[in-house]
Amino acid sequence: METSGWRAELYRLTLALAFLALVLSSSVALAATGDANRGEQLFTGSQAMANGGSPCIACHALAGLGTAGTASYGPDLSGLYADYEAEGVAAVLESLAFPSMEAIYTNRPLTEEERLDLTAFFAQSAEKQPPASQSLAGLILLGVIIVFTLVGLSGLRRFKGARRPLVEQAKKQRGVMQ
Ligand code: HEC
Repeated sequence: METSGWRAELYRLTLALAFLALVLSSSVALAATGDANRGEQLFTGSQAMANGGSPCIACHALAGLGTAGTASYGPDLSGLYADYEAEGVAAVLESLAFPSMEAIYTNRPLTEEERLDLTAFFAQSAEKQPPASQSLAGLILLGVIIVFTLVGLSGLRRFKGARRPLVEQAKKQRGVMQ
């Protein structure tokens, strides 16, 4: 029964991968809950932060914001969403615990709505670049389909392999020789 052992193992692995793909695609969906336009206004400062924090653009550049987006004290945030994913961005925005930013935001934290809106804005600007998470989820799903097909085929071969001698035997018993 060794064969069924590795097949069960493979199925378990496949299920784990399918789950991972599901989590990845839902993290993309999570970003859709904020308002990207409002996020952009918060980023650029055309709308003030509720608790008085500085707009991010004071220090950060972000591709697609024209000449206004060329600040260079902080790192360019264009690749932020691709690097961190929705949960990562949400976590970063919750604490903003970077040395140069702590002084500003520790006592002026972003509200939950502001964090969601900024996350949606980062997600939207990431769409202008290849959305890494979506293609990764797609790749994993493709892998899952391939594994299922292979496992299915190997089962089919096993079935045929077990059946053939039985058929031969039955033919012999009836005296039908080939
Ligand atoms: C006072 C200038 C300043 C402001 C305002 C500011 N940042 Fe920063 N930020 C920095 C600097 C400088 C760094 C680099 C790390 C450090 O030195 O603290 C940084 C780092 C970051 C990082 C980490 C980047 C990475 O590649 O890991 C993120 C994310 C970030 N900032 C997001 C924001 C967001 C979102 C806002 C607006 C809510 C914002 N920052 C406002 C100066 C600023």
